[in-house]
Amino acid sequence: MKKILSPSILSMDFGHMERELKKTAEAGAEWFHVDVMDGMFVPNISFGPPVMQFVRKAVPEQVMDVHLMVMEPLRYLDSWKKSGTDWMTIHYEAVKDPAGDLAKIREAGMKAGLAINPETPVSVLRPFLGLADMLLVMSVHPGFGGQSFLPETLDKLRELARMQAEEGTKVPVEVDGGITLDNVREVLLAGADIVVAGSAVFKGNPAENVNAFRQILEQA
Ligand code: DX5
Ligand code: ZN
Repeated sequence: MKKILSPSILSMDFGHMERELKKTAEAGAEWFHVDVMDGMFVPNISFGPPVMQFVRKAVPEQVMDVHLMVMEPLRYLDSWKKSGTDWMTIHYEAVKDPAGDLAKIREAGMKAGLAINPETPVSVLRPFLGLADMLLVMSVHPGFGGQSFLPETLDKLRELARMQAEEGTKVPVEVDGGITLDNVREVLLAGADIVVAGSAVFKGNPAENVNAFRQILEQA
């Protein structure tokens, strides 16, 4: 599949949200990654559906890639759908019945993603390969932007690619955390299809950064 950049709005200048979103979209960002944190699953709180509605309004054409780092993520299923979520990703570690929850997300008319934390082995994903529209491998401990990429993620990505080859599936793989212009090639080579980047897009000039990422992604 075509490689995709998903800029994480967590690192955006919230004082100028609309301007930043439009500028980044105009530079060619087709997706936005929306990091939702509840202060329970992760030690930080970010934003919820009301903010998401505003984001959706500012960039109506872009794909909204919502990453729920929350316990009981299905509690607000309808609100996420109504506020414009296209992809809803939940954490394996945060739910009791990943298969049932993925099915409910799809029934609600969204694409369903399943994420794993750095300490969770990729082997837990095997039963869900036919049930998820995306697999998200965290490359930092979730909770904060601006952390360093955990290098052991590369082996996890290669293992996931082998597992998908064995099972005959091609579920898109997203990687999230610490991705920069310097390490994104390696991440793509290891098997990533969708790369999230927060600081590396929004610190400095977002339009220039998006262009630099797109050039690398197009060559991969
Ligand atoms: C971490 C979030 C990430 C984060 C990425 O909990 O899930 O999406 O915003 O930010 P950077 O690219 O700065 O690591
Ligand atoms: Zn994220």
